[in-house]
Amino acid sequence: MNKTKLRLGVNIDHVATVRNARGGFFPDPTRAAKMAEAAGADGITAHLREDRRHITDKDIESLVKNLKIPLNFEMAATYEMQKIALKYKPHAVCLVPEKREERTTEGGLEVAREENKLAHFIAPLQEAGSRVSIFIAADQRQIEAANRIGAQVIELHTGAYCDLHAEGHFEERDAELKRLREMAAYADSLGLEVHAGHGLTYETVVAIAEFPELVELNIGHFLVGEAIFSGLQSTISEMRRLMDESRGLFL
Ligand code: PXP
Repeated sequence: MNKTKLRLGVNIDHVATVRNARGGFFPDPTRAAKMAEAAGADGITAHLREDRRHITDKDIESLVKNLKIPLNFEMAATYEMQKIALKYKPHAVCLVPEKREERTTEGGLEVAREENKLAHFIAPLQEAGSRVSIFIAADQRQIEAANRIGAQVIELHTGAYCDLHAEGHFEERDAELKRLREMAAYADSLGLEVHAGHGLTYETVVAIAEFPELVELNIGHFLVGEAIFSGLQSTISEMRRLMDESRGLFL
């Protein structure tokens, strides 16, 4: 058993999703990031998508200004995003595939097909001091390609494993878990730092956190969703208290 602490990167994208459902400023992703920091998160992850559906350019600016813990800036490999990353020089840049029509990042990046282009793309980011991570499926070809282009980190996509668990396809889930475990070990043997994430929940995190080669997990959607349930009761109670106090009704 690896007894070193696994780093937790908290993805705050979906705090921005809730804010953007109304426009305006509430809830503020930077406030959530500061709470994550206070709660022991080791880093904050934010994905600036091409369509700005959740995190915005202003959020990135605010996170860079206010965070004490490292920012992992997720982005597509476009020159628009590269320019933003070079402006803010975040601790880490995680390259993810992006399609406008998808709801979330559905698969890993096709590194093997775009090796040359990606090698040139990541060089200035690394020169600016950002660690470059590539979000990929548990696929040996992609890991080898990520290593060849000089990435320091790979992040293994745990989405398929989590979906198979949620759908009750336990045999296939276990096969995917095995693939993830083997590929984490393989990437580590090449000298890559290994991270993982996507779709992780209380139920699915334990088997993944056991992988001895893993250094970091990035988790977002579940944390933001679960926070509704752990926080709703006290939030409603506070609203009740304020309404009662306003009418001089002290309990
Ligand atoms: N890691 C990467 C590279 C991601 O793209 C995402 C989703 O933005 C996550 C981790 C977090 O996934 P989730 O929000 O499902 O926990």
